[in-house]
Amino acid sequence: MLCLHYLAPIAFGLFSLVSAADNSSTTVPIPPSLDPWYTAPQGWKCKPAGTPLRVRPAPGNISAVVKGAASAYNVMYRTSNSHYEPSWAVTTLLVPQTPNPKALLSYQIAYDTHHLDDSPSYTIYSGLATDAMAWELVLTSGLFINLPDYEGPTCSFGAGITSGLATIDSVRALLSLSDELGLAADAQYAMWGYSGGALASQWAAELQESYAPEMNFAGMAIGGVPINATSVIRDLSGTPPAGLAFSAIWGLTSQYPGSWDELLKRMKTEGPMNVTGWTDAVKKSTTETATIFANQDLSEYFTNGFDFLYETLFSTIFYRDGTLGHSGTPKMPVYAYKAIQDEINPIAELDEVIAQYCHDGANILYERNTIGDHAAEGLNGAYPALFWLQSVFAGTYGSTYNTTGCTIRDVTTSYSDFSS
Ligand SMILES: *[C@@H]1O[C@H](CO)[C@@H](O)[C@H](O)[C@H]1NC(C)=O
Ligand SMILES: *[C@@H]1O[C@H](CO)[C@@H](O)[C@H](O)[C@H]1NC(C)=O
Ligand SMILES: *[C@@H]1O[C@H](CO)[C@@H](O)[C@H](O)[C@H]1NC(C)=O
Ligand SMILES: *[C@@H]1O[C@H](CO)[C@@H](O)[C@H](O)[C@H]1NC(C)=O
Ligand SMILES: *[C@@H]1O[C@H](CO)[C@@H](O)[C@H](O)[C@H]1NC(C)=O
Repeated sequence: MLCLHYLAPIAFGLFSLVSAADNSSTTVPIPPSLDPWYTAPQGWKCKPAGTPLRVRPAPGNISAVVKGAASAYNVMYRTSNSHYEPSWAVTTLLVPQTPNPKALLSYQIAYDTHHLDDSPSYTIYSGLATDAMAWELVLTSGLFINLPDYEGPTCSFGAGITSGLATIDSVRALLSLSDELGLAADAQYAMWGYSGGALASQWAAELQESYAPEMNFAGMAIGGVPINATSVIRDLSGTPPAGLAFSAIWGLTSQYPGSWDELLKRMKTEGPMNVTGWTDAVKKSTTETATIFANQDLSEYFTNGFDFLYETLFSTIFYRDGTLGHSGTPKMPVYAYKAIQDEINPIAELDEVIAQYCHDGANILYERNTIGDHAAEGLNGAYPALFWLQSVFAGTYGSTYNTTGCTIRDVTTSYSDFSS
């Protein structure tokens, strides 16, 4: 890409980060597909990754929709796609009512979508059903919450590289704006995510050392992470959440030009499950596709079933961008939790990746819950994760948890043990 450095300052000189136009146009939240604010400003590709491109007070009345939030900002920032080429994304920063300026938690929401208007910066106004409980808890304890739309404008659900880089760059962008946002310049920052949100977090952790070596995450809590896109797609197919597999196939191919069209060539043209129904679904919301694909065996859409997953074109993509455990070792302390009975992705795949990280010198507490399935563990593991993160921010981590090596244990933890 050609960056005309003598032009860039002119383009950006005309552009103020928090502009009057931004304020006045944002009283009512508008879906990202219709909101002109979700357009990268001229010259953005020439900015370093993590540079804020636009900032606005988030539209609407955030304290009416998020318990514990006093105000919020939207920040658009420069990040990278899965080929390390310029891309952009938007994040939402929630400012707590009683802020602790030294603590920033990047919470990756499991929004699992192929549909731009289901990005958290917008869906936050309709009351997020998925895993909102977790970060609302955190907000009441005074942490600033970063909620990146880490799938980016292409909705690359399951594309781990760009999801991880967009997570990293969202934190970089907020830190560079710390003065304006009320954060301390030396704020500590950590990550948390469950399921699809753990995927983005764990990719960020694997890629951080090579992509953002200057960063120093204080910790990461990851629950119910799906390790291997190929096995997740096979396992989800035919089950109630089969629509997630559709969104993941969309998301992974979205990063590899031409691969979606190649996929369509392998699809049936008639019968109840055909290429027309498949491509029509791309335009529909996550809720709609969840209904369409529920319990469908997605392999039925393809002439040769799931054979395509093992062709070089697709297996290369699904390994490079859809399989954790081969892109780096987390440098920050990690708390990992998963239900032994997790039906979305067998726990053995996480066991293997954790063993690899431990072999490579990571510091991990890994708790395997003897009770509950994938959905239940989102709640069952939330309090232990919260306590772990609180110890990280409070500086009591070292006196509560092992600071080196790995502790792997089976636990029996239920949400009702903590809430009452
Ligand atoms: C827009 O918001 C910024 C920051 O909150 C403020 O400084 C500025 O005065 C606002 N502009 C208008 C026109 O309200
Ligand atoms: C925003 O919502 C909060 C909580 O419901 C309410 O107290 C406050 O008055 C609202 N602010 C505005 C400007 O409407
Ligand atoms: C991912 O899962 C697929 C399907 O089960 C399997 O063929 C492949 O070997 C797995 N990849 C890794 C790296 O384990
Ligand atoms: C393709 O599938 C749709 C349902 O998604 C159906 O309505 C349509 O009749 C099918 N087309 C053919 C040619 O079978
Ligand atoms: C620390 O590690 C040891 C050895 O693996 C383990 O027995 C102990 O339970 C761990 N302590 C904590 C607080 O996790």
